[in-house]
Amino acid sequence: STPSLLILPGDGIGPEVMAEVRKIVDWFGKKRDLAFDVSEDLVGGAAYDAHGAPLSDATMARAQEADAVLLGAVGGPKYDDLDFSVKPERGLLRLRKEMDLFANLRPAQCFDALADFSSLKRDVVAGLDIMIVRELTSGIYFGEPRGIVQEGNERVGVNTQRYTESEIDRVARAAFELARRRGNKVCSMEKANVMESGILWREVVTKVHAESYPDVELSHMYADAGAMQLCRAPKQFDVIVTDNLFGDILSDCAAMLTGSLGMLPSASLGAPMANGRPKALYEPVHGSAPDIAGQGKANPIACILSFAMALRYSFDKGEEADRLERAVEAVLAQGARTPDLMGPEGGAPISTTEMGDAVLDALDAS
Ligand code: NAI
Ligand code: MG
Repeated sequence: STPSLLILPGDGIGPEVMAEVRKIVDWFGKKRDLAFDVSEDLVGGAAYDAHGAPLSDATMARAQEADAVLLGAVGGPKYDDLDFSVKPERGLLRLRKEMDLFANLRPAQCFDALADFSSLKRDVVAGLDIMIVRELTSGIYFGEPRGIVQEGNERVGVNTQRYTESEIDRVARAAFELARRRGNKVCSMEKANVMESGILWREVVTKVHAESYPDVELSHMYADAGAMQLCRAPKQFDVIVTDNLFGDILSDCAAMLTGSLGMLPSASLGAPMANGRPKALYEPVHGSAPDIAGQGKANPIACILSFAMALRYSFDKGEEADRLERAVEAVLAQGARTPDLMGPEGGAPISTTEMGDAVLDALDAS
């Protein structure tokens, strides 16, 4: 049956970039015979305006049923003073939590045409294509006990880093599965030298590897050394798997290897559903960018590349994902630039819609 795709454009530039993705989804239906059963719904501030909640129960149920969910962005100044319980971000958090999306995939890919945009030297980043897999539902951001407690005459801030074997096992498997579709290499990062959770992490990753993925090359690195290597020689990596806290930091660091926030896609995957596909939410890394919303300045590429990830990881259409990524690469090589991609040398930027159309043209030519 036709795979289903639930689209949640959200707020600010979310609907603007998603409109370009819609054109591309339709292109694959018409030209590549890859039809999706697409439905759209509200999330974030847009959902709050309509229902008084940033994600309605009905939308949550549709997300649970969908083969993949594609989200734009949520939030904006209009909603800043809302009660925490109904803030736009809560819509996104509810999706992640109830779908139990434990593996956050953050690729860092450097298109040759943008290599001079990186904060590092061209040679270090040109052609870079790595994937950070961050554990997303456990670790120090969730561990108990937590809180600010009184101890004698001063207060103590407490968080607990805590990982169960099964939590490590499932994210390790996600990383090894990914590696098999990519460069067949996983580097696991923790601090087994100073943390108990790190010792267990290394042990479980090693066991999962030996039992189920001996064909994949596995290495281990302390996370601090990993941060250094990411900046020194990032191309040595293929897939990096790490915990929630280290992954948060390492993925932001990797993002700066590639240039603009407007270029970065992400995916969050959960357990396989009855049809074998993982629960999945795809979204650009950027937010709703209220400073440029409504002006046709948003770069739609992060959202377009998020759809490419959906093609690859939810629908097993790796070749079509490659086709879409090559189209983006071609458009950049031709010099098409939204304002966020303009260097100091200047030039004439194109609009959100023009960028989407340029990608469509490149797809037509593919
Ligand atoms: P942001 O990512 O929205 O914007 C940061 C800067 O990058 C801005 O100058 C913006 O114009 C630029 N930018 C972002 N995406 C771009 C794109 N596609 N093309 C061109 N330029 C782009 O982060 P900020 O400003 O911290 O947050 C704005 C709102 O978005 C807040 O309400 C925040 O809570 C929300 N947010 C939502 C996220 C999500 O939906 N996943 C993630 C981050 C923030
Ligand atoms: Mg962060």
